Amino acid sequence: MKATAKAHTNIALIKYWGKRNDSLILPTNNSLSLTLDGFYTETTVDFQDSLTEDSFFLNKEKINGIAYERVTLFLDLIRKIADKPNLFATVHSTNHVPTAAGFASSASGFAALAAAGSKAIGLQLADHELSRLTRQGSGSACRSIYGGFAEWQQGTLEDGSDSYAVPIAEQNFWDVRVAAIVLSAKEKKVSSREGMKRTVDTSPFFKGWVDSIPADLREIKQGIEARDFEKVGAVAEANCLKMHATTLGAAPPFTYWNDITVSVMQTVQKLREEGIPAYFTIDAGPNVKVLYLPENEDKIVNTFRHLPGVTDVIVSKPGRGVTYTTEDE
Ligand code: ADP
Ligand code: DP6
Repeated sequence: MKATAKAHTNIALIKYWGKRNDSLILPTNNSLSLTLDGFYTETTVDFQDSLTEDSFFLNKEKINGIAYERVTLFLDLIRKIADKPNLFATVHSTNHVPTAAGFASSASGFAALAAAGSKAIGLQLADHELSRLTRQGSGSACRSIYGGFAEWQQGTLEDGSDSYAVPIAEQNFWDVRVAAIVLSAKEKKVSSREGMKRTVDTSPFFKGWVDSIPADLREIKQGIEARDFEKVGAVAEANCLKMHATTLGAAPPFTYWNDITVSVMQTVQKLREEGIPAYFTIDAGPNVKVLYLPENEDKIVNTFRHLPGVTDVIVSKPGRGVTYTTEDE
């Protein structure tokens, strides 16, 4: 019982930042993302009656510890839905995510695992059911089921059954680009999981963040529908700044930015003053992602390649949703 699936990572334009239920991974706000073609994970899950436990190989290396635990706990969810509690699997996964780019591999990783695992065990899930399952591996991963723009609807039910992502606009709807600006500095990292928890528990700015989401969502959806790049970019950049502002109010306070992060942000603002529409967004790390239109690609790549402290610039187009390899059937 074997299946292989491929899933791309996604970048949030309206951020998921805060949980209302840590174990079910239920968020405090809706979020909205663009799936990216440049970064993906391919995962094969092979369930076999003869196995007595799961094993997990990432980029050909056998994984133990927390990363293994997260995978096997996730397979438990799949076994539970399929009512096959004693069926174990061998999982082989490859992350096609540039090394040290700080690009969240958990999103493409859990989306590919959910898709391959559920198919291998014989489940036939609708997209929203697959998204709901994926959410329980890593929240942001539930948006990677779809290509193009997707919205994770937080839902209101306590059991999380109405918390999953839905498609907003498909991959080919609009050719906007995202450049990942990779920085040389290696910061000690507060994971997104830990950072959002500390913020929810201690930051007085958290309420302001949550209250600001409905208006941002309304505006960005209007912007996407109208293919209004300035509107989408401006809302995404402001939303990112609000998310990062909450971390400064946490106890103890923290920030994901370093000096080069700030320099990239200032360069983006300078580009706009020169008439190039470009906007930034930043996740739980120092690297910056820059949104731009295809006609400005050369200018964007050249500008950031030459900025001190930048080691690489990796460009992405909108990516596709989850796909399956058929040879396994
Ligand atoms: P963060 O901790 O900020 O979420 P990442 O998004 O890079 O950082 O997540 C890294 C974690 O995601 C890994 O420690 C591992 O648990 C999980 N992960 C990454 N790639 C995969 C994969 N291909 N399959 C399953 N889990 C993965
Ligand atoms: C800043 O999805 O990594 O990237 O649900 O705890 O696994 P868990 O967190 P995760 O958080 C992502 C946070 C973010 C914003 C976003 O992607 O929406």
